[in-house]
Amino acid sequence: MNVLIIGSGGREHALAWVLSRSAQKPAVFVAPGNAGTRLVATNLELPVPQAEQVLALVTRHDIDLVIVGPEQPLVDGLADRLREAGIRVFGPGRDAAQIEGSKAFSKAFMERHGIPTAAYRTFRRRDEGALRAYTKEQGAPIVLKASGLAAGKGAIVCMTRREVEEGLGQLLSGDQFGEASDEIVVEQFMEGEEASLFVLSDGTSWVMLPSAQDHKRIGVDDTGPNTGGMGAYAPAPVMTPAMMVLATEQIVKPTLEGLASEGMPYNGILYVGLMLTEDGIKVVEYNCRFGDPEAQAILPLITSDALELFLAGAEGRLHEADVQVSGMTSACVVMASDGYPGAYRRGFPIQGLDMASQLPNTLVFHAGTAQDGPVVRTNGGRVLAVSAQATGLQGALARVYTGVSLIHFEGAYHRTDIGKKGLLHGMSRQKE
Ligand code: GLY
Repeated sequence: MNVLIIGSGGREHALAWVLSRSAQKPAVFVAPGNAGTRLVATNLELPVPQAEQVLALVTRHDIDLVIVGPEQPLVDGLADRLREAGIRVFGPGRDAAQIEGSKAFSKAFMERHGIPTAAYRTFRRRDEGALRAYTKEQGAPIVLKASGLAAGKGAIVCMTRREVEEGLGQLLSGDQFGEASDEIVVEQFMEGEEASLFVLSDGTSWVMLPSAQDHKRIGVDDTGPNTGGMGAYAPAPVMTPAMMVLATEQIVKPTLEGLASEGMPYNGILYVGLMLTEDGIKVVEYNCRFGDPEAQAILPLITSDALELFLAGAEGRLHEADVQVSGMTSACVVMASDGYPGAYRRGFPIQGLDMASQLPNTLVFHAGTAQDGPVVRTNGGRVLAVSAQATGLQGALARVYTGVSLIHFEGAYHRTDIGKKGLLHGMSRQKE
């Protein structure tokens, strides 16, 4: 069995790692991959993830299954092209991927299917007058979103009128977001705790993976600009069994049934970003792929054969699949380059990778790394993620931060408070 993973981040390293452990002993390829994926898979060159290039790799390496990591190729229709060519692929087609590719689409979809989410209105960029008048009437706080893909930076939370003006300026100029802000969604501000759900779906059947909580801001105590994610833990204590039932009934089922009823059954990993508000659970956003770094936290908890799961997903047999998880808790901390999510330098040697990987139940997933002869160098904003598993969140955090302390590169930055909210939840539940 030959499997090809498309992407080059920590999520793709985690996918390659979990597939390489399958009892089916697959040959795993990652295109383009990073310095870490080459430890568990074969990296293939792929300068741009366009269908023709991916199809050429599939033919050359006799690929049986393709898993697409990032959103852009899915939104561009890569999964459709592969399916048309008769190739097994786990990932949604262009239609269903709109749930991430177009916030205007996803908000209207939720409205059509009665799925709880923040009240909103959508404007075209050229309707600037109406947009400005509406935001003036709504006041602050409010959330402005570029409708299209914006590498996780398209949501601007505005706490004051001044921030609304600045946010409108960024979205309306088009310089920062390009076509992604041709449509702009204005949303009611939601207050509460965030959590994420990950669902493997084959279009008719689906299975739920452990919940997770991401840490999107760069700074301790959720301060500073948004990033792709600075750390995660799984399962998230805030997603109690009762919350999971509610989220399943009110959100997951109507989402998958709604997509199927509109002629776009969802095949792939559905990521549902939730806000637990005083008025109930609401959807913040959908993503059409695994989270990064949530994948690095969740995948090590899966004890069933992950290849069999993804294959069952691609073949429409998820009703036969059995998802077993270890019962441990996972914590994952991202180490980034100084300056990220703004400008940063790359090319610094990384020390301590082997030492950290040898700690018990500890994994180092590479993201922005490159192999330079025997040396691994930094090559991106998020450089790597250390992920550790233990019987509780406290143990997992102690283990993961030990791993982080062993890894060094110039300008290395990480958040020191990953899991803090989860620990507080654990404590309040013990008191109940
Ligand atoms: N960690 C957030 C994301 O993957 O979008």
